[in-house]
Amino acid sequence: MDPGDEVADRVFLETTRRFAPPRLARTDVAMALALAQVSPGKPVADLGCGYGRHLKALVEQGHPHPIGIDRSALLLAEASAQAPAARLVRADLQALPLYADSLAAAFCFYSSMFLGSDEESRGALEECARVLRPGGALVLTTDNPLRLSPSSHFEEEVEGLGRVVEESAFDGTVDRVTKSITTDSGVRLSATFCIRYYAPPALSDLAARAGLVLRSAPLTESSPQLVALLEKP
Ligand SMILES: C[S@@+](CC[C@H](N)C(=O)[O-])C[C@H]1O[C@@H](n2cnc3c(N)ncnc32)[C@H](O)[C@@H]1O
Repeated sequence: MDPGDEVADRVFLETTRRFAPPRLARTDVAMALALAQVSPGKPVADLGCGYGRHLKALVEQGHPHPIGIDRSALLLAEASAQAPAARLVRADLQALPLYADSLAAAFCFYSSMFLGSDEESRGALEECARVLRPGGALVLTTDNPLRLSPSSHFEEEVEGLGRVVEESAFDGTVDRVTKSITTDSGVRLSATFCIRYYAPPALSDLAARAGLVLRSAPLTESSPQLVALLEKP
């Protein structure tokens, strides 16, 4: 997914908001806040905030002005409707327009830091380490890499949207997911997302190279997601 790829952003937006109910974002945020142990009102950011579903939940759960960072203008416009009091900034996660040591906690839901190369993942983690205060937490979530199959296919007719088809191929590190929507009027939108996965030992190495310490990332085959708590020493 390239920066500024509006078709990919549109496909992500239309499919995720149909398939992921708001209560899921509320649960993600409650879990992340409990792990990060951050007091209400402290400066927090959602890195790769997308259309703002977690920002909305952060506002509801005691953080009236969370910072939302994303590179997509389209998704940020949606985020400002979802969470009008959030501070939204269009930027790359590898070059955060934030002061060093300024955040009490950062969150990264659903692999937003890991949509590029290994080097880019490390760059995003390094930036996060720079802007967190000492002792500040990063909570990040991804799908559970132990549960991804080498290939999968999903198809559904979604009312008001059209036919949604999703195909993915996972090589043990990168999941290449192609999503397409064919609307009732015959318009076809298609985008491929390459999501890099790190099992806890690899994540621990990557975090250490970026200046963060992996504190916990419990994972078994039955875990629905990988939920990792990292800390800036
Ligand atoms: C899989 S989506 C998840 C969005 C959001 N966290 C959620 O769960 O709804 C990934 C998001 O990260 C953003 N993103 C990916 N790489 C980025 C980068 N290098 N800089 C800024 N934003 C990035 C994308 O624009 C997209 O909104």
